[in-house]
Amino acid sequence: MIVPLPTRVVRRSKGFTLDRATSVRVTPGAEHAARLLRSLLRPATGLPLPIADNGQIVIALDAKLVGLGAEGYALTVNEHGVLLRAGTTAGLAHGIQTIRQLLPTEVFRPSRVSEVDWTLPGVDIRDVPRLPWRGFMLDVARHFQPVHVVRRFIDLMAVHKLNVLHLHLTDDQGWRMPVPSHPLLTSIGGWRTETNGDGVPHGGAYTRGELEGLVAHAAERGIRIMPEIEMPGHARAALAAYPELGVAGEPLPVWTRWGISDSSFGLHAIGFVREVLSEVLEVFPGSHVHLGGDECLLPSDVHGEFLRQAGNHLLDHGRVPAAWEPTGDPRALVMPWKDETQAATALERGQDVVMAPHTSTYLDYPQSDGPHEPPGQPGHVVTSRDVYHVPLPDGVLGAQCQLWTEHVRTREHLEHLAFPRLAALADTLWSQRPEWEGFTTRMRHHASRLAALSVPAEVRREPCEHS
Ligand code: ACM
Repeated sequence: MIVPLPTRVVRRSKGFTLDRATSVRVTPGAEHAARLLRSLLRPATGLPLPIADNGQIVIALDAKLVGLGAEGYALTVNEHGVLLRAGTTAGLAHGIQTIRQLLPTEVFRPSRVSEVDWTLPGVDIRDVPRLPWRGFMLDVARHFQPVHVVRRFIDLMAVHKLNVLHLHLTDDQGWRMPVPSHPLLTSIGGWRTETNGDGVPHGGAYTRGELEGLVAHAAERGIRIMPEIEMPGHARAALAAYPELGVAGEPLPVWTRWGISDSSFGLHAIGFVREVLSEVLEVFPGSHVHLGGDECLLPSDVHGEFLRQAGNHLLDHGRVPAAWEPTGDPRALVMPWKDETQAATALERGQDVVMAPHTSTYLDYPQSDGPHEPPGQPGHVVTSRDVYHVPLPDGVLGAQCQLWTEHVRTREHLEHLAFPRLAALADTLWSQRPEWEGFTTRMRHHASRLAALSVPAEVRREPCEHS
């Protein structure tokens, strides 16, 4: 009943029961993983799970293990104990999530549950993901989300072995990342006076320390954060702070409406962009930085030149630019969001592609046409089944779901939109042979884990079907 479905599971007759005498043995480099295991199991079980040389749970980091790749793991549970092995810390982190799912679902509760028998069934599991990019994009620009909300999303991604959190940090309606050389980006660009005439100011920004904390929290769980700094369009919050960077140059407030704004950076802003990206590279150590590049009214030659220069700055520093549209540079990663021809063109050119088609991965669309759905982006319904069948042309690195937040303010609403659709994404990208019927069966059990985690109640219903 594990989500996402492991590659190979063989049942053994005898399992292992965790109790107050159970301890954990680690090999060098696996200490983090032991801490993660303890922090995940202790709230509900109350078990101390100390480190000890004769521990019955063995967590082994072994770079010489073959066949497990960058994220796979091998897990054995028998009457003597538990052996988790991986060649990477990410593999260990995924294996620990599997141990958690093998326990009774009460283990997902946030506080002590008594009278539960914490027995792991006997198993031999060997588990390797099908695709290396299993992502989730959270738009913290349209509605700012405090650190604890993002941190909880990281935890929920980790449950599902998703591995890339794409943070959409800047847009017309708000700039959320501090840049010391340009303090007005957050003090002015971080706030709008109202939203669509509601008269209520909205804003916020992270500190550098908070962002670094999120990066570390994610890394311990096998997740990397890909920041997005939108350019040259979707830049009105930055232009409210520094109007001279714009094409027009006239001062305009942070945008209070949704849609495609007609303001954008001019090519003369590229020095500013390099300074911003240098700060981004210090805070976010991951391989990719997203430059946006969509929905911009600049002439296409200027638009292309802008993204070429910004992308080169990243490439010069050993990073890879990502964009919503092909940028003209074959070294950039593309996230086709409109249709599959975008993907085919990029793949023909030999570019890296991560699928993000709006008709199967945009979570701001309602997940059913039922009467209880909160209002969302009009135009489509995207069901779990649609997400499960996201087109994955040969050669793509994977896919990600997008949670744009024009219509979403609260954590409960965000999580309602995210689940169970993110579970569907995770299952279809991780499983070697994804199969919708099997997923819906496992999802019935998995829903009780989400319920124990207080992912909003509406999520407990079965994944909805197109009628
Ligand atoms: C997008 O939805 N404009 C990427």
